[in-house]
Amino acid sequence: MKASISTISIVLISVSLSISLVTSNDTVDFDSFLRCLPIHSNPLVPITDAILTPTNSSFEYIYQLRASNLRTLLSSTSRPLAIITALHPSHAQATVVCAKRHGFHLRIRSGGHDFEGLSYTSGVPFVILDMFNLHSIDVDIESETAWVQAGATTGELYYRIAEKSNVHGFPSGVSTTVGIGGHFSGGGYGFLMRKYGLSIDNVIDAQLIDTNGRILNRESMGEDVFWAIRGGGATSFGVILSWRIKLVRVPPRVTVFKVPRTLEQGATELVYHWQQVAPKLPKDIFIRLQLQPINNGSNGRTVNVLFIGHFLGKTNRLIQLMNTNFPELGLQGRDCSEMSLVESTVFWAGFSNGSSIEVLLNKVRVNRSFSKTKSDYYKTLIPKQGLETLWEAMMEIKDIMVQMNPYGGRMEEISESETAFVHRGENLFMVMYMVLWSESEGGIDATARHVELSRRLYRAMAPYASSNPREAFLNYRDLDVGSKGCNGTDFAIAKEYGTKYFRDNFIRLAGVKAMIDPENFFNNEQSIPPLPVRATH
Ligand SMILES: Cc1cc2nc3c(=O)[nH]c(=O)nc-3n(C[C@H](O)[C@H](O)[C@H](O)COP(=O)(O)OP(=O)(O)OC[C@H]3O[C@@H](n4cnc5c(N)ncnc54)[C@H](O)[C@@H]3O)c2cc1C
Ligand SMILES: *[C@@H]1O[C@H](CO)[C@@H](O)[C@H](O)[C@H]1NC(C)=O
Ligand SMILES: *[C@@H]1O[C@H](CO)[C@@H](O)[C@H](O)[C@H]1NC(C)=O
Ligand SMILES: *[C@@H]1O[C@H](CO)[C@@H](O)[C@H](O)[C@H]1NC(C)=O
Ligand SMILES: *[C@@H]1O[C@H](CO)[C@@H](O)[C@H](O)[C@H]1NC(C)=O
Ligand SMILES: *[C@@H]1O[C@H](CO)[C@@H](O)[C@H](O)[C@H]1NC(C)=O
Ligand SMILES: *[C@@H]1O[C@H](CO)[C@@H](O)[C@H](O)[C@H]1NC(C)=O
Repeated sequence: MKASISTISIVLISVSLSISLVTSNDTVDFDSFLRCLPIHSNPLVPITDAILTPTNSSFEYIYQLRASNLRTLLSSTSRPLAIITALHPSHAQATVVCAKRHGFHLRIRSGGHDFEGLSYTSGVPFVILDMFNLHSIDVDIESETAWVQAGATTGELYYRIAEKSNVHGFPSGVSTTVGIGGHFSGGGYGFLMRKYGLSIDNVIDAQLIDTNGRILNRESMGEDVFWAIRGGGATSFGVILSWRIKLVRVPPRVTVFKVPRTLEQGATELVYHWQQVAPKLPKDIFIRLQLQPINNGSNGRTVNVLFIGHFLGKTNRLIQLMNTNFPELGLQGRDCSEMSLVESTVFWAGFSNGSSIEVLLNKVRVNRSFSKTKSDYYKTLIPKQGLETLWEAMMEIKDIMVQMNPYGGRMEEISESETAFVHRGENLFMVMYMVLWSESEGGIDATARHVELSRRLYRAMAPYASSNPREAFLNYRDLDVGSKGCNGTDFAIAKEYGTKYFRDNFIRLAGVKAMIDPENFFNNEQSIPPLPVRATH
């Protein structure tokens, strides 16, 4: 907590002062917007307690607290006219109704982890509906289900499940400060993916606020909308108030490991081999690769590959399975630790060994940096020559983290049209490339250079990644994939990025959009536009 406060105060000082001012006409509309809010919300929980405008002393603090990427935070020169920090569902409903009525663009934020900052920036006057206060989690072990509000983090969810059971869990993100609202609606994956699929594969109901401010559930929204918000990005369709999830069963003890290998220790051969093995291992085993360039001690550079593993079972059994399936890694008992599932989430989130599980309740990301992220899907093996290309590109960059996440298992059993999330059985693995930099490397002034480095690496991997389209993961949002502008309506542009994110599911998503939000109120740079009437023929 201490770390997070000090990071934030540094940011507050360095923020640029060229914040654009509201024109007097907007002010007139804005007053009507503010007057509209109490009329449409529950008087027992005054919405005035939830409204922050730039004159409130905590406005800038709350704005920045959940702006996860310093690149997007510090390059944004505009501020919302207001942040509505909903304290009651009716506050979220009122925000939608009044923003629509008075013509204000709306941005919805839960955890603020959007890689392009779309939940807290916009090029047109806007208001933010901030969901972080709505974070209740109601776990019912008897029915093995839970209702989880949008503002809860994955860390809170894991903690609340563990409070009631050590043999239940939920397949969701590795990072524990990610907000359920955004995270689930793009899929949501983590180390239980090969066993149980994505978060959305275990969502059984939802509460969604539509463009008229009504709260819909699965029955009243209908199966098409329920299909769309699972993987299609809920932000195009409404505001997620809560999700109802089905818990999954896990053994009381699980095993984790972390094994590092540098290029000099044969990492190229091992990574080549991992590609063949990891997607085919028993579902109980998940082995992510986390790759980073490091100095090798003699003025040279190398790549360090961490094999980070999770096994739903005990160490002895894991070692047997690894000796059969992946003996080349040489996994030993001493590399492994047995723990409960919730302790393994602490391990995956990168907290030091021995951290108490209370760290899961820290809702705000610490150690924010400047970053640019891209994603790729691989349907065929990267040949060794392709791996060499990746190493070279990585070693040219001071700080980059590449993660390779194996598919297969449960991901292979679910069809591409079951939910809006399309990337299923054809894929061997998904890759994240995250270029990182800090204030000392030029901060915001170094953005163009680092973004170009990420593009160069991405171009270098083109021959090996998926193609036609080159698929991308919505939760790893990347505006290079395409953007129609913050309030655009161009269907042709949307089809371009939409096809990369959703392939054939894009047209169905646009059809659902035409049904639930034909006026395109829920709109951002990469939202789903309504299907034009002519395009249906
Ligand atoms: C450090 C870090 C680690 C990550 N780890 C993982 C991981 O392990 N697995 C994984 O799958 N992804 C991961 N991600 C990606 C993450 O899932 C996405 O960025 C996700 O969109 C974040 O959700 P959020 O609510 O925190 O973000 P926000 O920035 O608040 O929202 C993201 C998007 O969802 C929309 N949105 C937010 N709340 C709502 C709502 N209530 N209703 C409708 N729309 C809403 C926003 O408008 C925005 O478009 C990670 C990201 C970061 C920064
Ligand atoms: C507000 O905008 C309207 C037209 O949109 C214009 O007629 C009016 O003069 C503007 N008022 C102010 C105070 O700028
Ligand atoms: C914001 O400032 C206004 C005016 O000073 C005040 O009435 C209101 O209570 C403040 N809002 C919050 C949430 O503190
Ligand atoms: C967004 O675009 C629509 C349609 O082009 C327009 O009517 C609306 O005023 C725009 N909204 C903002 C906030 O610019
Ligand atoms: C360090 O890196 C250099 C150049 O990449 C390489 O030639 C050398 O063998 C490496 N040394 C060690 C100890 O790994
Ligand atoms: C964590 O610490 C415990 C005891 O201090 C040790 O036995 C275990 O091996 C450590 N685990 C890891 C993954 O470092
Ligand atoms: C944050 O950074 C500090 C200092 O580099 C480090 O000690 C700490 O482990 C980091 N915390 C997390 C959660 O990554």
